[in-house]
Amino acid sequence: MTNNCQTLKSFNVIAIDGGAASGKSSTSRRLAEKCNFLHVDTGSHYRAVTYACLEKGLEPRETSELKDVVRDLTFSTRICGHEAQICIAGDQPLGNGELRSPEVNAQVSPMSAIPLVREAVKTYQRQQVEVARLKGFSGIVMDGRDIGTVILPDADVKIFLKADPAKRQLRRQLEGSTDAIGDRDKRDASRATAPMKAADDAIIIDNSDISLEEVVDRIVALLPGSDA
Ligand code: DC
Repeated sequence: MTNNCQTLKSFNVIAIDGGAASGKSSTSRRLAEKCNFLHVDTGSHYRAVTYACLEKGLEPRETSELKDVVRDLTFSTRICGHEAQICIAGDQPLGNGELRSPEVNAQVSPMSAIPLVREAVKTYQRQQVEVARLKGFSGIVMDGRDIGTVILPDADVKIFLKADPAKRQLRRQLEGSTDAIGDRDKRDASRATAPMKAADDAIIIDNSDISLEEVVDRIVALLPGSDA
């Protein structure tokens, strides 16, 4: 299969959803490099907000203190290659040490289930489409849990990635992480606001037994105008 991105329409919007360690970020990153898209990892937005709240001693509960802190958060974007990184209050983007710490891993799912937290990042996330256009990218690939259903419901292509739970857990172990991905998935899929689910028009790809390149090739072949 040939997969050059030359024949694609001038600007493409791709939504990739799926559970923890389903390969969303690696797939999105590779797709972004291949087709000159901007990659937006929305999990990192919830992680950054969770980190900021934990720093202030706040737990993931809908209290007036949490409301005040979240309401005052301001977001901006720093672009590094094809990656859009969120900055809070004009600070440098947080590193993986902070975003993927055991504390953030444990609290990010309950924090992201709080409606006011989701509202706080929603506008920022949608604005990334314009950021990608203005910066001259050929499209945007945004990954998360509710991108195809809530954030970008008009995306050109929607993908929902799946993988065998044992393989997903192994991927995290190989990264040296103790993240309880099964628990997070259950929470993320059962919350009332914007639960993780495949959009009705999403293409489901199970990547348990296929390579990253093959997954990316399949997605490129789905893009409008693709000659793959
Ligand atoms: O993609 P990730 O594992 O880094 O995401 C961390 C958490 O953020 C995830 O458990 C649920 C939340 N999240 C969400 O609720 N909606 C998104 N679009 C992305 C992530």
